[in-house]
Order: sequence, then C-alpha cells, then structure tokens
Amino acid sequence: MNDTFLRACRGEEVSYTPVWLMRQAGRYLPQYQSVRANVDFLTLCKTPELAAQVTLQPVDILKVDAAILFSDILIPVEAMGMRLEFSDKEGPVLSEPIRSRASVDRLSIPDTEEDMPFILATIRILKKELDNKVPLIGFSGAPFTLATYMIEGGTSKNFLHTKKMIFQNPRLFDFLLEKITATIVPYLSAQIKAGAQAIQLFDTWAGMLTPVDYKNFVLPYVKKAIAELKKEGVPIIYFVNDCAGILKEIKKAGADVFGIDWRIDIGDAIKKLGKKVVVQGNLDPCALFLPREMIEERVKDILWKGEYAKGHIFNLGHGVLPETPVENVIAMVEAVHKFGQKQ
Ligand code: CP3
Repeated sequence: MNDTFLRACRGEEVSYTPVWLMRQAGRYLPQYQSVRANVDFLTLCKTPELAAQVTLQPVDILKVDAAILFSDILIPVEAMGMRLEFSDKEGPVLSEPIRSRASVDRLSIPDTEEDMPFILATIRILKKELDNKVPLIGFSGAPFTLATYMIEGGTSKNFLHTKKMIFQNPRLFDFLLEKITATIVPYLSAQIKAGAQAIQLFDTWAGMLTPVDYKNFVLPYVKKAIAELKKEGVPIIYFVNDCAGILKEIKKAGADVFGIDWRIDIGDAIKKLGKKVVVQGNLDPCALFLPREMIEERVKDILWKGEYAKGHIFNLGHGVLPETPVENVIAMVEAVHKFGQKQ
C-alpha cells in the first residue's frame, strides 16, 4: 500500500507531499452522476456496494493518495432519532430542530453496528478493494458542527438559534453536546475497527464563533473526543473552516493534523500553530477554475510554504465545488505530485 499519506500525518519523512481532496467524490464527476442518477443521496450512502464504488472513483480517476469514506456527517444525527432529508435546493433538512430539554432527552445514543451497519459494511468492502492502493479515511462531523445542524434544522446564515442556546441556556447546550460526543466517539472507533486508517473531524461551522466562545463552547467537546479517539492509534485530522482567527485555540484540540481553509496564507497558519505541527490544505476550491499554469503556480506556493511545517498534506481549503472541471482537478493532483517531490 502507498502509505505516504499516513506517514505525512505522523510527521514522518516522505518522498513527496501526498494529496487528497475534501468532497473528492461527488457531483463534479460524471461517474458519480451516473450512479446518482438511479438513487437518491441517502440511499447511496446506505448501500455499501454503491457507497464503496463512489469512494473508489476519485482514487482511480484523480490518483489521490487517500480515499475518504463516502457518507455524510448527518448520518449519525439521523441515527440519534432526527428525521433527515436532502433537498436539491436547500441541502440537508432536519425536521423538529432541537430547542428544548425534552427534545434533547428524546435523542438516543446509537450503536454503530446496529443502527448504522451500512457504514461498517462499506468500510469492509473498501478495506478489500483498497488493499494495495491507498489508505482509507473515516470521518464524522465534530460535535459543534453537528449541533448547529440539529439546532438550526439545516444550514444557516448566522446561526442565531445555536448562539441563542449557547447564550441563554448553556446547560442545555452542554447536555446536547455531551450526547453528540458520546455518539461520535464510539461511531469513529467502530469505523477504525472496521478498517479506517485515519479519521477526519469536520468542524465546518466552528469559525462562526468569537475566539472566546470557541474556547468555551466548541473546544472542550472536540478535545475530549480527540483524546478518547487517540487510544485507537490512528491519525486524527481536525478541519475547521474559517479557522484564521481561532488557530491559537484550535491547536489545543490535540489533533495530529490541522486542516486549514484558504482564507489564511498557509505559511501564516504554520507560524501561528508552530512548526511542530502537521498541516493539511489549503488551495481555494475556486482556484480550480484558473488556467492550468496558474493552478500550478498556486500549488507550488502552497507546497513551498508547507515545507516549514513538520508535515504537509495537500488538500483544498474546503470541498470540491460541483461545477469544477474534472481535468483541472486532475491537473492539480499531477502538479502536487510533480512539484512536491523531495530530493
Ligand atoms: O469528501 C468526500 O468525498 C466524502 C463524502 C462527504 C460528503 N459529505 C458527500 C456529500 C463528506 C466527507 C461530507 C461531509 C459533510 N456533509 C460536511 C462537512 C464538510 C463540508 O463540506 O463542510 C457537511 C457540512 C455536510 C452536510 C451536507 N451534505 C450538506 C450541507 C450538503 C448539501 C450541499 C451539497 O454539496 O449538496 C450535503 C450533501 C452531500 N454530501 C453531497 C455529497 C456528495 C451532495 C449530494 C448529492 O449527490 O446531491
């Protein structure tokens, strides 16, 4: 197996900078679209043969150095007892958002084997299929980001309901976050036991808080989750979107790798986190709409700056956009492999 990605996660020496992309499986790939034409998104996530098939597509097409399980961060939320739907226009919709003690009480702490068996079945198929290729990344939403979906009922602009709960009923918020943390730790342990070789925690919305609110209402739970998961012995990547203003706090989460979005120069992020860290990122997803030579220039700049960290895994600063030309994504991966060689 090509273990360059895992070695980079651990800060070990590598012969080149590995690369994978958030949302590397998805609508920009015609091969994904043709699978998706016959099934809705949730059915795709819950059908192990199909989920495994679309997980493998970017490995074969893009030649990336890691695969990421095809699923969604809201799958465990549904397993906790909320009704989940995906609409083409609005994205995810969770009916009856969590706003009261009674609604938190009604949530269950799911058992992965029993309530989400398709996740483990998908990983077991991938384990076989990927045997001689690249490592498999498992994932979950981080506690805060999952809480925002549960409290807002979907995606939000200003996260008013979430912030209202934090400010007006911090005990209820704590109660909810404890329950989410108690869900995702065994969920991720089960993914690791089934064969996931690294884990990424997505904290997509944690950058919406002030640094002090991040410290008080996000960090304790993610730190706890990471500390418990560390016992499993696989690298833990923590991605926070819009992380620039809170890097000092994010560092305390104790992850092995820190995922950086594109709004900060990766060199500055490394300075703030300290040279002993491993970073992942951070090409602007829209840079994939540039001409090829300009994509290469941006790739080189990030690779060069990444050299200052203990380790660097190349990635986008957030997920691939559905409109992205596939040939540009391939060109980007080729550029990383070409210019990321170490002498
Ligand atoms: O990265 C990968 O290739 C693995 C698969 C993956 C998906 N979602 C597939 C998906 C992963 C890791 C996720 C995580 C996820 N899901 C996050 C965190 C990462 C991020 O983007 O910030 C979040 C916030 C979600 C919730 C979610 N799922 C939203 C807001 C949406 C709608 C927006 C959109 O892009 O359509 C989804 C749907 C979704 N998740 C799709 C895919 C491929 C599109 C579904 C389709 O085929 O119509």
